[in-house]
Amino acid sequence: EVEIVGNKSVQELALNFENLPPNNYIYNEGGVGFRDALLPSESDFHVPIIDIANLTSPSTSQHELHKLQSALHSCGFFLVINHGMTSSFLDKVSEVSKQFFELPKEEKQKYEREQINIEGYGNDTIYSENQMLDWCDRLFLKVHPEDQRNFKLWPQNPIDFRNTIQQYTECVWQLYEVILRVMAKTLNLEEDCFLKECGERGTMSMRTNYYPPCPMADHALGLKPHSDSSSITFLLQDKKVEGLQVLKDNRWFKVPIIHDALVINVGDQMEIMSNGIFQSPIHRVVVNAERERLSVAMFCRPNSEKEIQPIDKLVNESRPVLYKPVKDYAKIFLEYYQQGKRPIDAFKI
Ligand code: SIN
Ligand code: FE2
Repeated sequence: EVEIVGNKSVQELALNFENLPPNNYIYNEGGVGFRDALLPSESDFHVPIIDIANLTSPSTSQHELHKLQSALHSCGFFLVINHGMTSSFLDKVSEVSKQFFELPKEEKQKYEREQINIEGYGNDTIYSENQMLDWCDRLFLKVHPEDQRNFKLWPQNPIDFRNTIQQYTECVWQLYEVILRVMAKTLNLEEDCFLKECGERGTMSMRTNYYPPCPMADHALGLKPHSDSSSITFLLQDKKVEGLQVLKDNRWFKVPIIHDALVINVGDQMEIMSNGIFQSPIHRVVVNAERERLSVAMFCRPNSEKEIQPIDKLVNESRPVLYKPVKDYAKIFLEYYQQGKRPIDAFKI
């Protein structure tokens, strides 16, 4: 049975099953309260919208900086507007990404990942019979630096996929450097301190997530609860279908859809570099019974050869060092994730 599940894309499964999806996709814990998530507007908590143009001009807005600071300290999620990418360009990025998943199965399979590799088109790698699987297909590509691109896994169809993603990569990487500087500013640190800690030639990978409609939407998850291994992650959300939720004070909150905003979240490696001041949030994705959902995540990471650790200036008597130094966290991350453990816990002192 496991094999059958493993050989199919979730997309195919969604079209073809007769009764219910295989057990590996069904969470039986009373529906896990999936419908209980609050809209931020229904509580005191909200995911703030940061106007990045207000933080890069010579006259930095203290109000905006403060908003960002409290987001970084509390939930680790924020939305960025005025980032310089046009609405039509972002639509194009979503469109080419979606068009890929709409291709016939044979065409997509040309880019299929190999069993243990993470890069390419596919879904969860199956390690054990009882493993819970995500209701999601994905296309994972290394996008930055350029010499790490593995073009045989980059779709040639749709025709403008490669061009669009290369352009998007450039824009997001530029924005990444801006955001890391601004994050340092919220702590009164040298603006380039996080960039330096990440080493030269930091990397970025793209994961396009395709969530087919799910007939048992209350009992399946698009992505299980997790935090990201990145320094920070940029997410282009589906414009119409929500699904992303963040855990705060033991409650799930929906991350709202704001057109043309990019969602940013802190990842584990930033939590480590900031000595725990910035929070790497636990988040999950719920699925929809009628509608498909598409998102494009860009994971920015330090150079894998560079040992990272809490920034010196964030360690003092009242705040002792909280994490051990670590190299190639993303690789360690995978091993833990597959065992259902939270990897950052292994590096806490
Ligand atoms: C994630 O990458 O964890 C979230 C992606 C999504 O919202 O689909
Ligand atoms: Fe994530």
